Amino acid sequence: MDTNSKTVYFTIDFHLVAREKPLLYNIYINSSTVKGKDHYVKIVRPGEILNDGDIEGFKKYQRIHVLESERGLYLKSLAEDDNIESIDKVSVIKDSAVKHLDDIFNPGKEFNTEILGEALDGCHDSMKAMVDVIKDYDINSLKKLIGDLSFHDFYTYDHSINVSMYSVLIYKQLKPNASEADLVAIGLGGLLHDLGKTKISTEILNKTGNLTDEEFAEIKKHPEIGVELFREANPEFPGLKKETIEKVIVEHHENIDGSGYPKGIKGEDHHIFSKVVSIADFFDAITTKRSYSQALPIEDALEIMKRTVGKKIDSDIFDFFVKKVSKVLLTGKTMIELPVDFNTEVAHAKLPVQKVQPKKLGENFTKASDNPNKITK
Ligand SMILES: [Fe+2]
Ligand SMILES: [Fe+2]
Repeated sequence: MDTNSKTVYFTIDFHLVAREKPLLYNIYINSSTVKGKDHYVKIVRPGEILNDGDIEGFKKYQRIHVLESERGLYLKSLAEDDNIESIDKVSVIKDSAVKHLDDIFNPGKEFNTEILGEALDGCHDSMKAMVDVIKDYDINSLKKLIGDLSFHDFYTYDHSINVSMYSVLIYKQLKPNASEADLVAIGLGGLLHDLGKTKISTEILNKTGNLTDEEFAEIKKHPEIGVELFREANPEFPGLKKETIEKVIVEHHENIDGSGYPKGIKGEDHHIFSKVVSIADFFDAITTKRSYSQALPIEDALEIMKRTVGKKIDSDIFDFFVKKVSKVLLTGKTMIELPVDFNTEVAHAKLPVQKVQPKKLGENFTKASDNPNKITK
């Protein structure tokens, strides 16, 4: 029996409890009916095997709970469970990631290095489970899954989670033999790329008008602040190359031609994870509906991104993204583009798309009609 009032529990759904295999975690009920006087009692221990009848029987307790400290074990068990639908798994994993991201990004919550360290450990558990579930997806199925999942307005959190999932998939397609540790590392890079935004005023981040030079200078600090915070928290992340996550955090706004920030380093000096996360970041920023901005259809988004190849994003990885990962055909019909200095970070009342003249499309612009097989494989 655990009566420690400081112990934290979270509620789990009856249909998402592992059955017909040894449990990895303890299950508790709250035996108290007095509000504010919770009394948790352990009803199942790790190693026990439950069947449908057992779980049906638990419904008389109305709610069942797992220790917050065993959330990682619960997620691992869930991710590996063949009897549970992917949408249910990802939904729970995403909720866990949102909880940890909220501990990091919510300006109303207490924030210190210790809290950040715990939240980063939680992000690690969530990402391990996420990689387990989505590693065999393709981008189109993932885009659909993300659409089905988008049920709240926590844009920052949704964006971080989406970028992490796209990054994992792009990298997995790029390097089919990538180790699980590398997939988790790039996923964490995507999840934490904007860690430094916790120290940037929300007024600036949410401003939908033009930024002043001072405001933009402030935003440009977030990659370096992010790395500092990450180093201070010094999460363990066993088996992962933490320096690759740091690279993503500090390099995700660097551009291939050296026009990005904070250092203005050129493409050959960017870590491959950073190049992948930049593409995922750009793609999600323009294809996901934000409360204050429209979303572009995938075809338009890809065409707009194509115009920034060699300037903002890496040519080889983008080609790969279009040809192998995304099965969407480029139509060649889009006559709009985004400014080269489009910032994926700040709010836009409307995406600042501009009409372009057809002659600007250029000879080598890929059109679906040129060779459909080339880009549908
Ligand atoms: Fe950023
Ligand atoms: Fe971003």
